[in-house]
Amino acid sequence: MTIPNRNVILTGSTGIVGSHVLYELLEERLAGRCSGKIILLVRGRNEVSAEDRIKRFITHEHLPEFIAKYSLEQLMEYVEVVDISFESKELSNQLEVYKKLENCQVIHVAATTDLRSTEKAYNLNLATNYEGSLNLLEACKAFITRYTYISTVYSSGVRQGTLPDAYSQMNDFTFRNPYEEIKQKTERKLAELCKGYNIDLQILRPGVVLGRLMDEPKFYVPKYNVIYAFAGFFYKLLAQRVDVPINIVVHPNVHMHMISVDYVAKTIAKVYSMSDVPELNIIPAKGLGTKYTAMLMDVVGYTNYTFVSEPHPPRNEVEAMYQMKVAPSFGTYLMEDEYYFDNSRLLEIMGADSIPDLEKDYFDMIQFAKNQMFKGLEG
Ligand SMILES: NC(=O)c1ccc[n+]([C@@H]2O[C@H](COP(=O)([O-])OP(=O)(O)OC[C@H]3O[C@@H](n4cnc5c(N)ncnc54)[C@H](OP(=O)(O)O)[C@@H]3O)[C@@H](O)[C@H]2O)c1
Repeated sequence: MTIPNRNVILTGSTGIVGSHVLYELLEERLAGRCSGKIILLVRGRNEVSAEDRIKRFITHEHLPEFIAKYSLEQLMEYVEVVDISFESKELSNQLEVYKKLENCQVIHVAATTDLRSTEKAYNLNLATNYEGSLNLLEACKAFITRYTYISTVYSSGVRQGTLPDAYSQMNDFTFRNPYEEIKQKTERKLAELCKGYNIDLQILRPGVVLGRLMDEPKFYVPKYNVIYAFAGFFYKLLAQRVDVPINIVVHPNVHMHMISVDYVAKTIAKVYSMSDVPELNIIPAKGLGTKYTAMLMDVVGYTNYTFVSEPHPPRNEVEAMYQMKVAPSFGTYLMEDEYYFDNSRLLEIMGADSIPDLEKDYFDMIQFAKNQMFKGLEG
């Protein structure tokens, strides 16, 4: 039996989603379902080389069991690490050696997830998420067949009702922050450029990503951002023995659409070779209500808070810090009425009951992060 040959250029493999996409790509090769190189674009950090960072990501104690059973040598056999950022002007030169590869495609996961509404955050999002994504396409356009772009369900901006996968058909956007605006701008520009270059564009959009729910050991993520950063803020206050009243603006009918990282990665690994999935949201149809935001606070142990429906000036220094640092990013997502996603195509591809039940494990998931003191793999 011949197996397909798939060469993949992957970005973001030192992040939450990308590391799990890497595990899935490794597994499909080690299990003999396909062949082909996994080319990782990684930058060195804090004097740790790009290659050593990847070695850390494929040898640590919380690896999924299906990867932990292989040796470092077995895993590295499929991996080539290129020490570069996808934003670099040197990218095209550095990828010269791969330009004769057949069946090569990009899975672009890396991004800044800075959700703040400041000029600095706008510029960072523009440089990394827009210009960086275009730079990657320009560097690879001569030899790739498909560009899989990992966006976010929030690139639709604020919406009501039930959202389809086809954001490309939407107009009239109201964005919560530059992150969403620039993700949408990037989707549109990539669509225009890929059409001109005859490259298949695939846009995959996860919801809020939480720890593993399918593969043991459960609950792990290598970095505690977004919802975890919200919980981590209160955890750190208590660690400093700060326990003052804080009001949190929450819509009484808010529902957060969250999804486990292993489900996201398995979906990406399944659809990246499919030619009939141009846009797909990776998301449950219905989100989890305010009870689960309250549960975050319970797990962390911060009880001196009240959910309120309207913003107001800060009443103390810590509330001011919450309003300045936390509310403008994750807090924005707590302020809206419930809406839904039409995820019928996702369920058709992944299976009717494929989405892991987050409700059941939510408490333990946050407890796990607290036990890790909200500290990620690289500190
Ligand atoms: N997390 C969520 O809840 C969520 C929800 C919806 C969509 N998404 C999307 O999913 C994707 C992955 O998010 P994530 O949560 O996995 O992010 P993450 O954990 O913060 O990881 C980000 C990755 O991107 C890389 N990166 C960031 N800026 C870079 C730059 N300027 N040059 C080179 N590499 C850079 C990071 O490399 P370093 O380690 O070197 O910094 C890291 O590998 C993103 O596109 C994000 O928009 C995430």
